[in-house]
Amino acid sequence: SPLHDFIHGLPKCEHHVHLEGCLDPELIFHLAARNGITLPSPTENPAYASIAALTTRYEHFTSLDDFLAFYFEGMAVLRTEADFSDLAWSYFQKAHADGVHHAEVFFDPQVHLSRGVSYKTVVDGFAAGCKRAEIELGLSTRLIMCFVRHLPVSSAQEVYEEFLSHEHFESELVHGLGWSSSEVGPPKDMFREIYASASAKGIPLTAHAGEEGDPTYISTALELGATRIDHGIRLIEDPELMKRVANEGILLTVCPLSNVRLRCVPSVEHVPVRKFLEAGVKFSINSDDPAYFGGYILDNYCAVQEAHQLSVMEWRIIAENSVQESWIPDERKAELL
Ligand code: HPA
Ligand code: ZN
Repeated sequence: SPLHDFIHGLPKCEHHVHLEGCLDPELIFHLAARNGITLPSPTENPAYASIAALTTRYEHFTSLDDFLAFYFEGMAVLRTEADFSDLAWSYFQKAHADGVHHAEVFFDPQVHLSRGVSYKTVVDGFAAGCKRAEIELGLSTRLIMCFVRHLPVSSAQEVYEEFLSHEHFESELVHGLGWSSSEVGPPKDMFREIYASASAKGIPLTAHAGEEGDPTYISTALELGATRIDHGIRLIEDPELMKRVANEGILLTVCPLSNVRLRCVPSVEHVPVRKFLEAGVKFSINSDDPAYFGGYILDNYCAVQEAHQLSVMEWRIIAENSVQESWIPDERKAELL
């Protein structure tokens, strides 16, 4: 596309990427061998026959939960602090090559804790990757801890306490909180008490909502104190709520290739970027789980351009909103604009 160089050169901020979602099939097989972890046997699940078979299986997810089963199985190969730091570093190198200057990255500690890996191992490893990206690549970084909706609230409460007591929270590297995993099924407001506590402490809050779930998942997240919504594409089904989101300047972190791979939309043409632009709804464009969905952030930007043919002005608005709604001090925003 004629705007490709311009889009590559835009100063990008990524707000929606799961570090565990950057674990590609090659690294899954490599770390399984290195750490002596048995992957599902190919007789049980033929997807695990080879790196190629697993890669191909990822092209055929049928839903969010179908993807999540592979995502949680894959991350079981992560054991040591080095595994976590190497994974983060591999993401930051790709992001840097795509023109990302600031990245706010998710991680899912409950799932690691449930298989015997400590919060400290996970966070210290990811934090080391962040520090290296800041020093060697000039990126600014933030970690956002996600609660997962498929495990009991008591498990979320445990990691919330670890989050509050860990030195990286004090240092503001582990900066915000989110929730993710299965959307439809568990109670919409299952993290009400935790979010009330975190809100009172002034911790920035986001939430995965309106990906598979209807707009009431979005309004519930806002009611609980989220000031940002991850995905949020089903917002277009509620014009009143859409007005409110626009008026309050709530950022949606949209992930076009993810939406297609998880069959939330039939193609990128159906990701409502133009409706959001027309309604004055702020959004950023992100990769979500790039190792599973066939592309990093620049692939997502380019897919939006192919499908929607945005103007230079529209791209500038998207880039500027991405900077303005990042969870960074004003001085850093000024450097990025
Ligand atoms: N939705 C919900 N949970 C997730 C996702 C997602 O797109 N990616 C990783 N965990
Ligand atoms: Zn996500």
